[in-house]
Amino acid sequence: MSSDYLNELFDLDGKVAVLFGGTGELVGTIAEGFGRAGMKVVLCGRSEEKANARIAQIQKNSPWAETLFCQGEVNNREDIQATLHQTLDRFGQVDVLVNGAGVNSPTPFLEISDEEFNRIIDTNLHAVVAACQIFGKHFLEEGRPAGIINITSISSNIPLSKVFTYSASKAALLNLTRNLGREWAKQGIRVNALTPGFFPAEQNKKILTPERTAQILGHTAAGRFGESEELIGAALLLASSKAGSFINGAEYIVDGGFSAMTI
Ligand SMILES: NC(=O)c1ccc[n+]([C@@H]2O[C@H](COP(=O)([O-])OP(=O)(O)OC[C@H]3O[C@@H](n4cnc5c(N)ncnc54)[C@H](O)[C@@H]3O)[C@@H](O)[C@H]2O)c1
Repeated sequence: MSSDYLNELFDLDGKVAVLFGGTGELVGTIAEGFGRAGMKVVLCGRSEEKANARIAQIQKNSPWAETLFCQGEVNNREDIQATLHQTLDRFGQVDVLVNGAGVNSPTPFLEISDEEFNRIIDTNLHAVVAACQIFGKHFLEEGRPAGIINITSISSNIPLSKVFTYSASKAALLNLTRNLGREWAKQGIRVNALTPGFFPAEQNKKILTPERTAQILGHTAAGRFGESEELIGAALLLASSKAGSFINGAEYIVDGGFSAMTI
C-alpha cells in the first residue's frame, strides 16, 4: 500500500483541527498524530506551559506542522467563540472539532456535592453542547464537510464504579453525539464518539489505586493499559471527511477489549 493511496484516502493534508483538552494527555497525543498527518493543529486549554511543551513535540515530530494555542475555559462560551475566531483569523477555516476536556472525581455517591456534580457535568457535557453549537453553526453556515469527535468513555455504555457523575456525564455525551450525528448527517457534518478504555493520565491518576488497577487490567482482554498513541488511528478515521464519510453518530471503542469481556 503506497502512502499516496493513504493520502488520497484520508485527504487530511492542510485540514484544520481544533482540539479542546489539547493540553491534556490523550487529546494532546491525538493532536500530535494530526500534525504528523499534515493537519494544522489548534490546541485549546488552560495551561500555556503544557501547550508549549506539546507544540514543541508536534514540531519535533512534524516540522511542517502549523500550530496555534488558544487559552481558555471550556465552561466559558466566550472563550469557545474566541477560539473559533482566532482559528479563522489564523487559518481561514476549521474542518475538525475534538471535544476532549474532561474532569473526574471518585467521590462516594452520598458525598457528592452539588458543586462537584455541576462542575463535572458542566465540563464533560455542557461545554461540549456549547462547542457543538458554536462550531456546528459555523460548519452549517460554511456548508463544507466537517467532523466533530467527542471523547466519551466506556462508562458511556456501562456504569463505572466510584465515578457516578463522570459516568452519567459521559453516558449523556454519547447520547448527544448520536443525536447530533443523526441531525447533521445530510449536511455533511459527521458527529462521532471516540471511546478510550483505560489510559493513565492526569485526570484519573487519583483513581488508579493498586487495587483498582488490578481490577481494570483483570477485566481488559489485552491485559494492559492503553497507550495514548493507540487512539490516533481511530481519531484520524473519524477526522477524515473522506475515509470516514459514511460514519455518522457512531462510537469507536479503543479499549483493549474491556467492553468485550464477560468472565
Ligand atoms: N485517560 C483515560 O483513561 C480516559 C478514558 C476515557 C475517557 N477519557 C477522556 O479523555 C479526555 C482526555 O482526558 P485525559 O485522560 O487525557 O486527561 P487529562 O487530564 O490529561 O486531560 C484533560 C484536559 O482537560 C482540561 N480541562 C479540564 N477542565 C477544563 C476546563 N474547564 N477548561 C479547559 N480545559 C479543561 C485539563 O486541563 C486537561 O488538559 C477526557 O474527556 C476524559 O474524560 C480518558
